[in-house]
Amino acid sequence: MSAADKGKNDLKEKVEAQEIKLIPVYVMGKRYLVPQTLTIMKAMEYAGYKYIRGCGCRGGICGACATVYRKPDDYHLYVGLACQTVVEPEMYLTQIPFYPANRANYNFEQLSSEPEEIFKLYPEVFRCIACNSCTKACPMDVAVMDFISAVKQGNLARAADLSFNCIQCGLCVSRCMGELPQYHIAQLVRRIYGGKIAPRAQHLAGSARAIKNGKYQKALDELQKCDVKQLTVIYKEREIEPEITGEEWTPARTDYL
Ligand code: SF4
Ligand code: SF4
Ligand code: FES
Repeated sequence: MSAADKGKNDLKEKVEAQEIKLIPVYVMGKRYLVPQTLTIMKAMEYAGYKYIRGCGCRGGICGACATVYRKPDDYHLYVGLACQTVVEPEMYLTQIPFYPANRANYNFEQLSSEPEEIFKLYPEVFRCIACNSCTKACPMDVAVMDFISAVKQGNLARAADLSFNCIQCGLCVSRCMGELPQYHIAQLVRRIYGGKIAPRAQHLAGSARAIKNGKYQKALDELQKCDVKQLTVIYKEREIEPEITGEEWTPARTDYL
């Protein structure tokens, strides 16, 4: 039995044993009873919906599963990621499978690092009226209005930094009365910053040279000869850098440093 089927069976047993309560939710206006522990994505699947689009990583990083919902007796329009947001009783919800946003065409090689490149490709950036609806809608807590402000000020480094956690879900675009495609603008900014402004990492060039000169070839050849079982053992037994060392860390095996 697959892990997914086992999970479904476990859930069914817990619901039948009343260990997990069923709560009502409305999907596109239709009422369903779903286990209260599920995310919106899993609750919709429990209710019989099948995701063909609007679902990717299921882990909160691909931005495919933007959802809009309301709660009873509450005028707020809530937004979230279906794979990360747990259902609540009487929630009214729907998925936004894709939200169309203007994406400029450009040849990256021909762009300079000047902010004017962004202004030419996305003149609508100056239509921002600083309402902050985009920031409120962002499930990743990105300071969307602030990165747009940074773009307008020509501060691409700040805009790239502020927008770094964007997963391109499109929820900010859905709320923008200036009709800006914030995430496409931010992506271009990060490309320009990363490709044309940020200083080159010298150690990266050195590592690329070492790969080209065959420094790791013997190790790669050995790995390629392994079967899946051997690779699994190597992977599980590999030495991992501690998250916090407090001091400079060196692996036990240094022959490939
Ligand atoms: S929603 Fe649009 S207009 Fe409002 S602050 Fe964000 S980018 Fe500007
Ligand atoms: S900035 Fe916009 S597109 Fe990016 S994660 Fe936030 S809401 Fe989604
Ligand atoms: S499916 Fe990828 S963020 Fe939800």
